[in-house]
Amino acid sequence: MQSIRVFAPASVANVSCGYDVLGFAVHQPGDEVVISLNRSGIVSLDLIEGDEGRLPTEPEKNTVSAVVINYLKHIGSKQGAGIKLYKKMPFGSGLGSSSASAVGGLVAINELMGNPLSRMQLLPFAMEGERLACGNAHADNVAPALLGGMVLIRSYDPLDVITLPVPAGLSCALVYPHVEIPTMAARQIIKTSIPMANAIRQWGNVGGMVAGLYTNDLDLIGRSMEDLIVEPVRKMLIPHFTEMRKMALENGALGFGISGSGPTVFALCSNRVISGNVTAALEKKLKEFGVGSTCYVSEINREGASVLEKI
Ligand code: HSE
Repeated sequence: MQSIRVFAPASVANVSCGYDVLGFAVHQPGDEVVISLNRSGIVSLDLIEGDEGRLPTEPEKNTVSAVVINYLKHIGSKQGAGIKLYKKMPFGSGLGSSSASAVGGLVAINELMGNPLSRMQLLPFAMEGERLACGNAHADNVAPALLGGMVLIRSYDPLDVITLPVPAGLSCALVYPHVEIPTMAARQIIKTSIPMANAIRQWGNVGGMVAGLYTNDLDLIGRSMEDLIVEPVRKMLIPHFTEMRKMALENGALGFGISGSGPTVFALCSNRVISGNVTAALEKKLKEFGVGSTCYVSEINREGASVLEKI
C-alpha cells in the first residue's frame, strides 16, 4: 500500500460540564486526509482544499503535516510522504477542526507504516498538533476523534484517558451560527479561579454524566449537562444562546450547551427525530434574527477516524 485516504470526524468537546476533560465524536462533518508515500525523504504538504487559503502551507507549521513529521521522527523513519488535506468543516466553529486534521494525518501515516502505534499511543502526537493550532494541548477533541465514542480525560499528567459507554440511539443536534470564535481567544476569557460552590456543583455534574452513560439514564445525562464555569462567560460570544437553549429544551432535547469553544451549540437527544426537530427549530430561530447557520444531526461516532480507501 502506497497511498491512503482517511476520514477524521468533528467532535464536541467539554459536553457542558467537562471543560477540557469530556468529548465525543460525531459522524459529520469531518476532514479527509490523503497521504502517499514517496522516496523524497521529506514530508510535503501538496494540497489544502477548502481552507480559502487560510491555513499555513509550511509543513512544520500546519497541524496535519507537523504531526506526521513528529510521528515519523518518533518511530525513527526517514520515509518521504506527500499530504493532501481536504477541509470539510468550518474554522473557529467549536467542532474540533484542527483536531480532525491532525488525527486524520496520524491515522493515515500510522496505517501506511503498518500500524506500529495504537490509537492511544497516537494521542500525545495529536495533542501536540492541538498545541500548534491553538496554543494548548487539550485532548477533549483529539481523543474522541482518534478513539471514537465519548471520552473522559481523567488526568493530563500522567495522561489517563477512558472511553465511556454511550446509550444506543443517543443523538446529537449541532447548529453552527455563522460567526467565528478562535479557540485561543475563547480560552483567554475564562476565569482562572472559581468559587468552591461552583466547583462542587460542576464535579457533581461530571460524575452524573459518567453515571448516566454507564446506566443508560438519559434524564441523568440531561441533568448533568450544566456548566457553571465556562458557559456563563462564553455564551456572550454566541448569538441568541439563551433563546436557542429554551427552544432546544422545548423541542425535547435532554440537554443543551456550547460545543467546544463555540459558536456551534449542541443538544443531546434521545433519538434522531428529536435531534432533527431541534436543529430545524434553531435554524429557523437564527434565520429570524438574521443569522445564517449550518446544521448537522449525528449519532455518537464510536469508531473515530476511519480509513476510506487504500490504494
Ligand atoms: N476544551 C476546549 C475549550 C475545546 O473549550 O477551549 C476547544 O475546542
